[in-house]
Amino acid sequence: MTDARARLRCWTVLAMKKQFRAKTALLVSTLALGTALGAGPTRAQDIQKLYAFNCAGCHGPQGRGNGPSAGILLPPPGDFRDTLKGRSDEWIARVIEKGGAGGNMAAVMPAYGGLLSEAQIKALVAYIKRLR
Ligand code: HEC
Repeated sequence: MTDARARLRCWTVLAMKKQFRAKTALLVSTLALGTALGAGPTRAQDIQKLYAFNCAGCHGPQGRGNGPSAGILLPPPGDFRDTLKGRSDEWIARVIEKGGAGGNMAAVMPAYGGLLSEAQIKALVAYIKRLR
């Protein structure tokens, strides 16, 4: 390999590493922000905030599965308009409470049971079902 090519390759790897680190930091801060906003009341505007801080980083602002962290998730999140079809409120609430494992899904979906109250989870279920 020529010098120039080796340098180019090295640069590409570095750039990829940098991008991955930035994305990981984004993911970590998404989760950390969620933790900070855990407790609180369940008014409509609060639920919207709760969703924005806890969920939108992965699921996207409208639940389409296109949040800023979605690209590094395996599997990536789907579109709530499809994934929630035919699912009961109880199933959805269980996934939010227990994480992916609560619904036979991947563990990349975090568990919010210790973080959010039952009322908040219930309100989130209603909220994400309404996202269009
Ligand atoms: C770290 C990224 C991440 C965060 C944050 C996150 N989710 Fe998820 N979630 C996922 C992924 C990925 C899946 C799909 C898992 C699979 O297909 O096995 C998923 C699945 C789900 C599902 C099952 C239906 C579906 O779309 O597959 C629900 C319901 C859900 N998430 C709700 C929420 C709610 C509500 C929040 C915020 C309280 C949240 N998620 C936060 C990544 C995340």
